[in-house]
Amino acid sequence: MKTILITGGAGFIGSHVVRLFVNKYPDYQIVNLDKLTYAGNLNNLIDVENKPNYEFVKGDIVDGEFIQKLFTEKKFDGVIHLAAESHVDRSISNPTEFVFTNVIGTVNLLNAAKTIWKDNFEGKKFYHISTDEVYGSLGDEGMFTEETKYDPHSPYSASKASSDHFVRAYLDTFGVPTVISNCSNNYGSFQFPEKLIPLFIHNIKNNKPLPVYGKGENVRDWLWVVDHARAIDVIFHQGKVGETYNIGGFNEWTNIALIKLMCRKMDEKLGRQTGESEKLISYVKDRAGHDLRYAIDATKIKRELGWEPSLQFEEGIEKTIDWYLENTDWLENVTSGDYQKYYEQQYVKR
Ligand code: NAD
Ligand code: TYD
Repeated sequence: MKTILITGGAGFIGSHVVRLFVNKYPDYQIVNLDKLTYAGNLNNLIDVENKPNYEFVKGDIVDGEFIQKLFTEKKFDGVIHLAAESHVDRSISNPTEFVFTNVIGTVNLLNAAKTIWKDNFEGKKFYHISTDEVYGSLGDEGMFTEETKYDPHSPYSASKASSDHFVRAYLDTFGVPTVISNCSNNYGSFQFPEKLIPLFIHNIKNNKPLPVYGKGENVRDWLWVVDHARAIDVIFHQGKVGETYNIGGFNEWTNIALIKLMCRKMDEKLGRQTGESEKLISYVKDRAGHDLRYAIDATKIKRELGWEPSLQFEEGIEKTIDWYLENTDWLENVTSGDYQKYYEQQYVKR
C-alpha cells in the first residue's frame, strides 16, 4: 500500500488526476490536499468521494508548519503537486498571491519531502506539474522542447518558472527525487469559467459578449485534460528522476479560429441560425504582456514513455461543449457569488 499526496486535487486538472488514480490504483491511498480557493470545488469529485482509498484534507501549502505535520503523519511515498494559482489575468491584478502559493507553497512541500524522506529516497518521487508558459512566447516558427530556455512574461509564468527552478535545485542540492512536466493549455470538464473555453461556452449560451483580447491572433496548443491526466500517470510511474517531459497535443489554434468553431458548434446545438453566436464577438483591449504563441514539441514523451493523446480536438471540443450544456447546476454553482465580482472587475470596466 502506497500513500500518494495529490495537491490541488479539487481544481480542474487535479480532479481528473485524482479520479484516474483513485479508480485505477485501489492499492494506493490517495490524499487530496486543497485549500479550496475560488478554483477548488469538491463537487468536481462527487463520484470518488466515498471510495475507501480516497481522503480529502483541507489545507494551505503556504503554511509550512502544517505541511511538515501532514507529511509526518501520512508518510507519503510520492507527491504529485498541482496546487497553484493558475490564471494569467488574476496574476496581473494580484501578483503577490502567485508568489505565495506557487513559489513558497512549492518550497514548503519540497522541505517537507526532504525532511521526512531524510536521505532514504528509495522508491520515492516528487512530481511537479508545470506549464509551457515558462518558455515564453514563440514567433510564427518553432516549438518548445525540453531544452528551450526559460523566458516567462506574466507574473503567473514567472512564479511557475521560479517553482520549477526550486524543484531542480532540491534534486541537485539535497537529492530529492524530482521530475517535472510542462504541459500546454488544457480543456475539458470542470474547468473554472474564467479560462477561455468554459467562459466562452457560458457566454454564448447566455447571449453575452465574447471578449476577445487584441485581434484574437494569439495561438494556443490545446490538449484534452483527460489526456494530460493520463500523461501524469505515465510520468509518475515511468518518468526518470531529474528529467523534464513536455506534454502537448500538436494542436495549435488561433484564438479567433477556435472561438468561431465554438460559435458554429453552439449554433447547431442551441438551434440557432448559423452565424448568430458569432455576432457576440467583441474585440477588447489586449492582455498586458500577452504571449503570442505557444506550441509544444511532445516528441520526447512519445519516444521515451509511449504516451500520446487519445482524442482528436474536434471530438474533444464537442464533448466539452456538451458537458457544460448538460451540467448547468455545476456551472451555476461556480458562477454565483464572488465570480460576479471578478467578472465585473475583469471585463465590465473596460
Ligand atoms: P485550478 O486553478 O483549476 O486549480 C488549482 C487548485 O489548487 C484549486 O483546487 C485550488 O483550490 C488549489 N489551491 C490554490 N492555492 C492553494 C494553496 N495555497 N494550498 C492548497 N491548494 C491550493 O488549476 P488547474 O488549471 O487545474 O492547474 C493545475 C496545475 O497545472 C497548476 O500547477 C498549473 O500551473 C498547471 N497547468 C495548468 C494548465 C491549464 O491549462 N490549466 C496547463 C499546464 C499546467
Ligand atoms: P486562457 O484560457 O486564460 O489561458 P492562457 O492565458 O493561460 O493561455 O486564455 C487563452 C487565450 O485566450 C489567451 O491567448 C488569452 C485569450 N483570452 C481572450 O481573448 N479573452 C478572454 O476573456 C480570456 C479569458 C482569454
